[in-house]
Amino acid sequence: MLEKTVSVLVADDDSGVRFTLGQLLKKEGYTVKDAADGDEAVAMAEREDFDVIILDVKMPRMNGLEALGRIRRIRPRTPVLIIAAHGTSAIAHQAIAAGAYDYFTKPFDNTELRIVVKRALERHTLQREIESLQQQVASLKRARHYGTLVGSGRAMQEVYDLIQRVAPQDVTVLILGESGTGKELVAQAIVESSPRRAMPFIKVNCAAIPEQLLESELFGHERGAFTGAVLAKPGKFELANRGTIFLDEIGELSASLQVKLLRVLQEREFERVGGTKPIRVDLRILAATNADLEQRVAEGRFREDLYFRLNVIPLTLPPLRKRLEDLPLLVEHFIALYSQQFNKTIKGVAPEVMDLFLKYPWPGNVRELENVIQRACILTQDSVIGTRWLPPEICQPQTDLHDTPLPNLYRRILPSGLFDDVSVSLSQKIEILTSQAEKELILRALAQCGNRRQAAADLLGISRKSLHNKMTRYGLLDEKLGNEGDKNV
Ligand SMILES: Nc1ncnc2c1ncn2[C@@H]1O[C@H](COP(=O)(O)OP(=O)(O)OP(=O)(O)O)[C@@H](O)[C@H]1O
Ligand SMILES: [Mg+2]
Repeated sequence: MLEKTVSVLVADDDSGVRFTLGQLLKKEGYTVKDAADGDEAVAMAEREDFDVIILDVKMPRMNGLEALGRIRRIRPRTPVLIIAAHGTSAIAHQAIAAGAYDYFTKPFDNTELRIVVKRALERHTLQREIESLQQQVASLKRARHYGTLVGSGRAMQEVYDLIQRVAPQDVTVLILGESGTGKELVAQAIVESSPRRAMPFIKVNCAAIPEQLLESELFGHERGAFTGAVLAKPGKFELANRGTIFLDEIGELSASLQVKLLRVLQEREFERVGGTKPIRVDLRILAATNADLEQRVAEGRFREDLYFRLNVIPLTLPPLRKRLEDLPLLVEHFIALYSQQFNKTIKGVAPEVMDLFLKYPWPGNVRELENVIQRACILTQDSVIGTRWLPPEICQPQTDLHDTPLPNLYRRILPSGLFDDVSVSLSQKIEILTSQAEKELILRALAQCGNRRQAAADLLGISRKSLHNKMTRYGLLDEKLGNEGDKNV
């Protein structure tokens, strides 16, 4: 350990002592620098991380004890040795009490000096090794996953911690985060760590079911409650009795259902559609949304009282781009999963692929990463996934619009030939450009929100109706994008 060049700082106002000490230490193979007073020693320690610092007690400007105090604050780990004049052991002891590692007295015995310096160095090395081992142990202790959630970075450790703390209680948890960040997996993990794990766990996607159906889906209905209600049917709240209900996409709940849900949250009681008998349930409620509920409350689109009831414990999942440290582990996880599923022996991704992954912003978060890897696993015949199997948005990152020369940008957006067509006026060209850009933005918003119209409208800052009109205008209401009733396609 001591073979690498060891640097020592010697501070003494006596140039003879500096020279003798320097010679002696250089013979040991150490690099030696010196200072003529305490002030200079402190300044040098600030600039350079020495392995050992030797300070004379009596020095002008700043004495050794004061310099020791300063150096301990700047470099708490560096061992400091004190040179005390013969017969001043009280000062030497004072220095040790103030954090010096050891001392020796003038005139010094060369052998003793060598041993003291060597011991200080050994302890310094040992301490560094211990610290690095402690760091390794801490990182080993960091969980790589929790239930089916994968990730070992700090952000996910905090998520795991919170799951563990809230799981045993019956509190309502509101799981927040962008689409594809793992909200449903968190709900599952909470249930699995809770005393209700063996009881029913019912999931309802509030955005996937049309409003009229959702009411009877949640609360059930009595026979004859509406046309087609031939038999009475219990709702999800009843089915989840003694267990947990997970209300996904809670932000999409209509105003009338918000009122009804509030009652369930407050009283754990409701009536079936068409029924009069109150039904009591023993439930734990978990909810999730990728909408900004606070903003919806401010806009009067989500009840504040319901928001407070739901938001007892908020648990926010970080987007993938903010926890890139987990990317390698997630990649490894999905490759193992899909390589086994498709009966292949894929070992990993090429370094260039990992580079592209680290640069890509992942708007669809872990779900998007999972899809990318699943697709590559299907397509590849090799044992390492190369860039050719990546989708174009990852492989050919969008050139930053700021870097694109304007005419090129216009040429790209304007239908071919139009840019150079002198018969079309500038204002007509601008109009075409604007609508093309609008169409482009709508398509992007829809893609980013999994084709959910309300979410896309929110993202664009327009009403759902206005989005609908624009989609009609641009011919975007085709099969591929789903229709109004089926918001979750
Ligand atoms: N931390 C994670 N570890 C492993 N897989 C994950 C993780 N997060 C998400 N996934 C995977 O990504 C996909 C999406 O996860 P999930 O459905 O929980 O996301 P979500 O936040 O509920 O998304 P949305 O808001 O769109 O409903 C699932 O296939 C899930 O298995
Ligand atoms: Mg979800």
